[in-house]
Formats: sequence, C-alpha cells, structure tokens
Amino acid sequence: MAAGVSIVRHLGGKMMRIGVIGTGTIATALVRGIAAAHQHITVSNRSAENARALAQEFPNVTVADNQSVLDQSDLIVIALMALAAPQILSGLQFRPDHRVISMMAGATLDDVAQMVAPADAAAILVPFPGIANGGSPVIAQGDVDLVQHVVTAANTVYPVQTDDELSAYLCAQAVLSPVACLAADAAAWLAPRVADPTGAEGFLRQLLSSSLMNSRADALIAALNTPGGYNQQLRIMMEDSGMRGALQDGLTKLEMRE
Ligand SMILES: NC(=O)c1ccc[n+]([C@@H]2O[C@H](COP(=O)([O-])OP(=O)(O)OC[C@H]3O[C@@H](n4cnc5c(N)ncnc54)[C@H](OP(=O)(O)O)[C@@H]3O)[C@@H](O)[C@H]2O)c1
Repeated sequence: MAAGVSIVRHLGGKMMRIGVIGTGTIATALVRGIAAAHQHITVSNRSAENARALAQEFPNVTVADNQSVLDQSDLIVIALMALAAPQILSGLQFRPDHRVISMMAGATLDDVAQMVAPADAAAILVPFPGIANGGSPVIAQGDVDLVQHVVTAANTVYPVQTDDELSAYLCAQAVLSPVACLAADAAAWLAPRVADPTGAEGFLRQLLSSSLMNSRADALIAALNTPGGYNQQLRIMMEDSGMRGALQDGLTKLEMRE
C-alpha cells in the first residue's frame, strides 16, 4: 500500500485530529515532537502538569477529559500502563471510525482491539523519549503508514510483522540503558581529570552517537581494533570480565519473561 493511502481511506481525505489518552512521560515526549506537524491534538487531563505544559507550549494542543478526547479526535493514541488500560478504557465510548494506535508495552494488537471496540486497533507504536526532538527510531506493528504519518518524516519507523518480532525488539532495545550507564561511568571517571566535565560528557555522548549513527556496529568494532590500542585493550578487558556474556544472558532472561 502506498504511503498515506490507508490514512486517506479511513478519513475520507479529511485532516486527522489526534487525541491522546494518558499524558505521561512518553506521551508528553511524543506530543512535543509532533505538535508542529499536526493541526489538532487533544490530550487527557491526567498528569495535569504535563497536559498544561503542552497546551501552553503549543496553540494547537488542548486538554480535555478522556471522553472529550475521544469525541474531538479521529485518531486515538493510547499511552496508559497496559495493566490499568482495560478498566480505564471500558468506561469510554469509542466510535467505529476511530483509528487507535497503542503505545503500551505488554498489550498486543489483539488485546488493544478488545479494549477499544468498536474502534479499529490500527497499530502499535513504540516510541523513545528522543522523539521529543525528532531523529528518533520508533518500532511499529500494523498500519505502518499511519504510524509514519503520526510521527512525521522527522522520525524513522522500523516495522515489525508479528507479536514475537515486536517482543524481540522490545528486549533488544533495552541495551540503551546499559549503554547509557557505560557513557555515564566513563564521564564520571573523566570529570575530575579535566577542566570542563560538562564538555567532556558531551564529547563522549557525541562520540558514541555519531560513531554508531554512521557505521554498522560490527564495522565500528573492526575499525577500532588497532592491536594494543586504547579501544581494543578496554574492550578485551571488559570482555574478559564477562560483559558480552552478561548482555546475552540478560537478553535471554528478558525474552523468557515475556
Ligand atoms: N517511557 C517510555 O520510554 C516508553 C516508551 C515506549 C512505550 N511506553 C509505554 O507507554 C505507556 C506509558 O508509559 P509512561 O512511561 O509514559 O508512563 P507514565 O508517565 O506513568 O504515564 C501513564 C499515564 O497514564 C495516566 N493515567 C492513569 N490513569 C488514567 C486515567 N484514568 N485516565 C487517563 N490517564 C490516566 C497517568 O496519569 P496520572 O499521572 O494522572 O496518574 C499518566 O499520565 C506504558 O504502557 C509504557 O509501556 C513507554
């Protein structure tokens, strides 16, 4: 299906009004990242401080109770905790023409379909906090064109076909926190040794992000493998202390927990 076709089919070519149920951490990041590209966004009045801040920042963002969010919107983004969602959503009236995108980890598209009937559970979207600034990857299952439209061309959609594939992505993306820990620990080690600790932390973040952005990870490891060089030495010391085995064990445990 060509990009945009599914959106037009379901909206008869009309502009899509977006409603967000649950204005927590990730919903706030999403709205901040996409508000400039969409005309009408309504967010629910829970996490009132987040909702108020978004409405103050963006003239096209308004705040309403959950049912009014649904009534004023064509496309609904669900950003609740998955365990709480069935009870919260069962008290709301969805329309058959609503298209729903769920951001909830732990709820499959089939689960979401039951929670939002008679609306169309169109897609799962897994965003990351960096979406607030654009240039972020997102994972999508279902109507990928619709997700791309919502997150805009400023962000990159990585489509998955099945629930198992989505679960595997969710496990592997958790490498982000350990990587951030490595960067934080290296910056803390560096701080008392340099004149500008803040600049030094920024240097490490830019080094990591630009290097990985511009190269496959395996090619980067090979390029950093100068015999006896700093990078090779540190990697081998950390491999000897079990770093890579710990990652594999951790990912396997996450997968078994799913
Ligand atoms: N954080 C991430 O990086 C991330 C990334 C991808 C996906 N997700 C998924 O996104 C969902 C939200 O995560 P989060 O980190 O943003 O959590 P969060 O900050 O705790 O957000 C949950 C939101 O649900 C709201 N809520 C609770 N009861 C409600 C009700 N009856 N009506 C309307 N809203 C209600 C909460 O409002 P109150 O504060 O007023 O209770 C809060 O704003 C989760 O399912 C998570 O798996 C998160």
